[in-house]
Amino acid sequence: MREIQINTVLHVYTGLDELPNKVAQLFEKAREARGKAYAPYSNFTVGAAILLDNGEIITGSNQENASFPSGLCAERTAIYYAGAQFPSNLIKAMAIVAGSKNHKTTTPIPPCGACRQAIAEYEIKQNQPIEIYFMGEEGEIVKSNSLKNLLPLVFDKNVL
Ligand code: THU
Repeated sequence: MREIQINTVLHVYTGLDELPNKVAQLFEKAREARGKAYAPYSNFTVGAAILLDNGEIITGSNQENASFPSGLCAERTAIYYAGAQFPSNLIKAMAIVAGSKNHKTTTPIPPCGACRQAIAEYEIKQNQPIEIYFMGEEGEIVKSNSLKNLLPLVFDKNVL
């Protein structure tokens, strides 16, 4: 038997003013996108904004469905659009804002497992890290320098 230890490094910021302007702008877009979420079932709205290497910003919000599993998270709405419309551009960063309509969300909300898997696909495809930033409606912001930090033991094309 041998033990594997997995360490990860995240950076926590107290507010947007601690972050570079371009990241604060990305969060502004994510917040706008969150306002367009369609989440009548969970009342939990999420906005994601992606920065591409050409300066383009792609946004997405969660889109729910009466058939619950048919809905899609904000992060995948955004990243699949980026992949479909800008297949040759590098994805530099993603900012995520999330919160409940029922109470104030003050803790950073990380992307769900399925979204991490989807983001991982693009990070591996482009062989360049994607910075991931996430927060609640207010409060601290968490930064991961790469999706890899959020999904150790990733299932990727190398195992196929
Ligand atoms: N949701 C996201 O948009 N992103 C995540 O990473 C986690 C969850 C959405 C899906 C659903 O519409 C609502 O939040 C509650 O799960």
